[in-house]
This record gives sequence, C-alpha cells and structure tokens, in this order.
Amino acid sequence: MQIHLDNRLLSVAKLVLPGKAVADIGTDHNCLPVYLVMNGISPKVIASDKARGPFNNACQLVELLSLDKQIDMRFGDGLQILRPGEVTTICISGMGGHLISNIIADSLDVAVTTKRLVLQPQNNISSLRRYLVDNGWRIVAEDIAVDRGFYYQIIAAERGAMQLSDEQAEFGPCLLANKHPLLFEYMQLKLADLCALIDQISDKQGPNVQERLQVLLLKANQIEYILGKLRKE
Ligand SMILES: C[S@@+](CC[C@H](N)C(=O)[O-])C[C@H]1O[C@@H](n2cnc3c(N)ncnc32)[C@H](O)[C@@H]1O
Repeated sequence: MQIHLDNRLLSVAKLVLPGKAVADIGTDHNCLPVYLVMNGISPKVIASDKARGPFNNACQLVELLSLDKQIDMRFGDGLQILRPGEVTTICISGMGGHLISNIIADSLDVAVTTKRLVLQPQNNISSLRRYLVDNGWRIVAEDIAVDRGFYYQIIAAERGAMQLSDEQAEFGPCLLANKHPLLFEYMQLKLADLCALIDQISDKQGPNVQERLQVLLLKANQIEYILGKLRKE
C-alpha cells in the first residue's frame, strides 16, 4: 500500500534528516509517520497526539499496516512524550505558530536535545520565527508548499545563533535568500488579501480603526517594497 501525502506534508517530509529517528507531535491521521517509514526515510518514528479520537485512529492505521515496530505511538501533550535525545528530528505541523512555540517552550530541555525542528505553522509565522531566533535556534532551510489554493511555509531550525529582520521574520530568511519559486506569487496573494482588508475597514469608524489601518498599510508597503526588490534582482 502506498501512502499519499499532500504537498504541505511532502515539504515537511523533505526537511526531515534522513536515516534517523523522528517524532511527529500532533500526528492526527498519522500520514507523515507512515510515509517516512514506508519510504525508508526514517527507520523509526514516534507519533503522538493529545486527543483520544485522532490518537486511536492513528494507532489503528499502524496496526492495519503492521508498522508497530517502526512507529511508536504515544498519547500525550507536546514534547512530554519524548525523552531527551530520543529523536534527531521533531516535526510539528498543522498548528498555529503560537501553539507550536508554546509546545517547544514547555519542554525546552527536550527540544534542545534534538538536531532539527521541522515546523509548519498555520498562522503567526513571524512570531514563531522570532521565538526560534530569540531562543537559540537558527533557521537552516525553508519551503513553501501550495495545496488546493492554500500556501504554507515550512521551517527547519537547528541550534545556533542568527539575526532576523522584520522582512525575514515574515517571509523567511531562506525563502528570501534563495528566491523560492513560489515566494513571489505567495507575496502577491498576501498583498491582495491585505489590500482587500484595508478597503473593507478604511471607511469604518471605531476606537481602534485608525491604528489597525496604519498597521495594515505598513505591512502592505513592506510587501510592495520586497516585491519591488525581487522584481529587480
Ligand atoms: C490540525 S491537526 C494537524 C495534523 C498533522 N500534524 C498535519 O499537519 O496534518 C493538529 C493535531 O495536533 C493535535 N495537538 C494539538 N495540540 C497538541 C499538543 N500540545 N500535543 C500533542 N498533540 C496536539 C490535535 O489533537 C490534532 O490532532
């Protein structure tokens, strides 16, 4: 049986360090662990979830595919299910950026013993990058995946120091440096969303409308500036 991964999770899989143990925190459907072991990318995956329903379904899939020697199912919250140094890569995908940084912060002693974090935040992406850099990680690789019209950023981080500009926090130091082939259209879409939002609220009244408008206009200008630079390069 072949397991089909969508582009988002394929990008996560590509950033995993091959040949070594992996943890997938909040695995839900368990597609990533199954893909990693069935394709010989990882010899062993620890897969966890803190919700009973997804966890039980994930266990059933492991049983059905007779993968219980390669996929170790653990029920629990965040990185608490791991012992220090147990895995080389920790994947956390499909969750908000704040939740991902909280999961890392809550078990920092375990997180720092892994070689690489592979993270796919659904939102608050710049806050997650800031959290990483402020807490001794450097961003070593990034990707953008597009799936059914939605764009996703994927971040790989390892221990080390780096500086991060506002531009890099928002659109990724590696994505910008490598001019990722999807970056331009991703930023154009972000700009179109922002402009629509600015249009929507520009004739509204209210205590915080002007402040909110200023923030949105600043963001739109920032994107236009980066797009201009990318066009010239
Ligand atoms: C939207 S799903 C994402 C599933 C999969 N990682 C993906 O990217 O497709 C989020 C899953 O994370 C689980 N989850 C949320 N917070 C968690 C935590 N602190 N520890 C473990 N699992 C968590 C949820 O129960 C849910 O099954």
